[in-house]
Amino acid sequence: MKATRRYPFSASHRLHSPQLSDEQNREIFGKCNNPFGHGHNYILEVTVQGPVDAGTGLVVNGQSLDGLVRDEVLERYGHRNLNEDIAAFKDVPPTTENLTTEIRRGLLAKWPQEFPRLDRIRIHETDRNTFEEGAF
Ligand code: NI
Repeated sequence: MKATRRYPFSASHRLHSPQLSDEQNREIFGKCNNPFGHGHNYILEVTVQGPVDAGTGLVVNGQSLDGLVRDEVLERYGHRNLNEDIAAFKDVPPTTENLTTEIRRGLLAKWPQEFPRLDRIRIHETDRNTFEEGAF
């Protein structure tokens, strides 16, 4: 069985790669390269997969998963400037591709043994952009 929980959070970023010239950054990232940045209302989806517990009828204890996501994602990323506040994005552009990878890495590092396996995470950046990563 798979179960998915959704977690909204807001953060700001500026898409800028130190490996590119200012002109290349403007060309590739357009208005997302604006030095003052911009915000997004992201929606994180966390999908787990495992057996349904015979006693509880649950695939995962939602409160336990919520606690992990709160500690490892929402408190760390919520209302932050991703470029300035997240060490992983000092030299790496905080695209939602990279954000997805970083959040998944952080969750896996603290993933409790008793949890069902992390199937995938998805991040909706806007109504038109969604990114996902898992052990496909
Ligand atoms: Ni953006």
